[in-house]
Amino acid sequence: MKDTPITGPEHVAIIMDGNGRWATARGRPRLFGHQAGAKRVRQIAEVCPKLGVKYLTVFAFSTENWKRTQDEVAGLMSLFKRYIQSETRELIARGARVRFIGDRVRLDPGLVELMGQLERLTEGNDGLHLTVALNYGGRDELVRASKRLARDVAAGRLDVDTVDEETQASYLDTGDLPDPDLVIRTSGEARISNFLLWQSAYSEYEFVDTLWPDFTPEIFAGIVRNFAARERRFGAVKA
Ligand code: IPE
Ligand code: IPE
Ligand code: MG
Repeated sequence: MKDTPITGPEHVAIIMDGNGRWATARGRPRLFGHQAGAKRVRQIAEVCPKLGVKYLTVFAFSTENWKRTQDEVAGLMSLFKRYIQSETRELIARGARVRFIGDRVRLDPGLVELMGQLERLTEGNDGLHLTVALNYGGRDELVRASKRLARDVAAGRLDVDTVDEETQASYLDTGDLPDPDLVIRTSGEARISNFLLWQSAYSEYEFVDTLWPDFTPEIFAGIVRNFAARERRFGAVKA
């Protein structure tokens, strides 16, 4: 009998949810939960190479998260800035390649500058490919992609009859990334909340009750290892 290869997920995407509830349960402001959550990102990123995970994509802020109080939004934006500044050295040292997906237009110019700088500093790296979804929404991404595609057709740069799934995918923010094999959502909510709508068409989903600040590398490793037991069919019937 041939050995069945243990195939782990190459690309894991995470909806990091539950920071607010984690803080509230401790009688602390929601931002305290976001700070605790930010620390987890580094720990999870660190174990990815050991688990064979080459791409890690994390949902940090959605296009709908602007609906929160001005206090929380401002706190998150300054947390993102501080986080990029404090993590840059470590990410470069590890050979990570960082990308941001989402619409930058509405973001603070200072933050956008830091994002671009980190992307440029790491663009030649081929360690962990870390993608941060910031002001990201799957529908918003599709709208922005459609507009660019339409402009290219109007300008004669693209023949509309040649547009296929690959063309469409190339216009998304994730144009040069593989689709996620596994999407994890923490905090017990079983919904997508506008994350990677196109890209996760055939992803496996794992919903865990753990709140994001409690999500340890051990829990992550367990989920990644269990992935190998799943049978992915992609619409076909097993031979
Ligand atoms: C996820 O945690 C982080 C962001 C959406 C920015 P939440 O802030 O959504 O935490 P809960 O869901 O309110 O507990
Ligand atoms: C999704 O979580 C967005 C992020 C994790 C950044 P939300 O907490 O915003 O999603 P809903 O509102 O519960 O659907
Ligand atoms: Mg939430």
